[in-house]
Amino acid sequence: MTILGIETSCDETSAAVLRDGVLLSNITTSQLFHSQYGGVVPELASRAHQRLIVPIVEEALKKAGVNKSELDAVAAVYGPGLIGAILVGLSFGKALAMGLQIPFVGVNHMEAHILSNLIEDPKPEFPFINLTVSGGHTQLVLVKHPLDYEMLGETKDDAAGEAFDKVAKMLGIGYPGGPMVDKLAAQGDPKYVDFPRPYLDENSLEFSFSGLKTSVLYHLRKIQFDPAKQNGALVQNLCASFQASVVDVLIHKLIMAAKKYRVRDIAVAGGVAANSELRRRLLERAKKEGLRLFIPKFEYCTDNGAMVAMAGYLKMVEGRTSDLELTAEPNLELQ
Ligand code: KG4
Ligand code: ZN
Repeated sequence: MTILGIETSCDETSAAVLRDGVLLSNITTSQLFHSQYGGVVPELASRAHQRLIVPIVEEALKKAGVNKSELDAVAAVYGPGLIGAILVGLSFGKALAMGLQIPFVGVNHMEAHILSNLIEDPKPEFPFINLTVSGGHTQLVLVKHPLDYEMLGETKDDAAGEAFDKVAKMLGIGYPGGPMVDKLAAQGDPKYVDFPRPYLDENSLEFSFSGLKTSVLYHLRKIQFDPAKQNGALVQNLCASFQASVVDVLIHKLIMAAKKYRVRDIAVAGGVAANSELRRRLLERAKKEGLRLFIPKFEYCTDNGAMVAMAGYLKMVEGRTSDLELTAEPNLELQ
């Protein structure tokens, strides 16, 4: 079964080809021009997807050595995300499936992030706990079987990646902030400022990062921080201290969930899974707790077509195709 997967829910235009669960190609273009605005501009994202979708799909097919006529199904994200951005990939995917007279499969973007753990070997065994940490979401999910999930906790306000991006903006180090904070923190002292660890109540699997962001803001006001007169060591120490707080909370809740649900395998997906401190400390902790840790390769952590093709493949196997009347759902929940 050969599937084309399409992802256009935010600022990455991506397409991938998967055959019988094996990835043949994954082509992604990140719309870097948003950085000059300090965040993703939805209208510009849609227009860029419109320009990029045909060449990206053609490149994915070419790299896979697959002709359109060999496709058995087309999968595309229908939510959650930016409505105008989703509509480009969704409409293109539906039209292509219609033209080729093959099934169309609508995919939930958050479900696809979870299934990015199944793209490469070794793969986690079911049931496992997955933590998806991206610019728009922070979700802790019990994955019972492919396509069978139980939501254990979500963020009540900012997503983890959003907190990285907002703190980076306050420090004047650019957008997207996560990779910059990660890089600068490597040279800083994580104990420089003891920022709060937002655990909420002791047993809660929910997250909240907006208070931490406000603590950073108050601290910067207190020390009269001026991004224009950046002191390199100070910024490195602030990045390390902020990052330590986020990483402490993410690890604490993921391990707590693994113990509560007695699973052996844990996984992390989404852009923040690229964070080097999170990876290093989580690996150490998982070893200590006797858990197996899975984190996809970077290109499958950030938004990508491969995870959409994987979700589409698993849905096809179960005969769960979609109606061509399926519309974009910007606030789609994980079912
Ligand atoms: O999954 P993703 O590509 O897009 C969304 O669906 O949101 O995640 C992007 C997020 C951004 O907030 C970015 O700052 C963050 O992932 N990110 C990181 C790192 N690399 C990307 N955060 C912390 N450390 C990193 N190395
Ligand atoms: Zn995403």
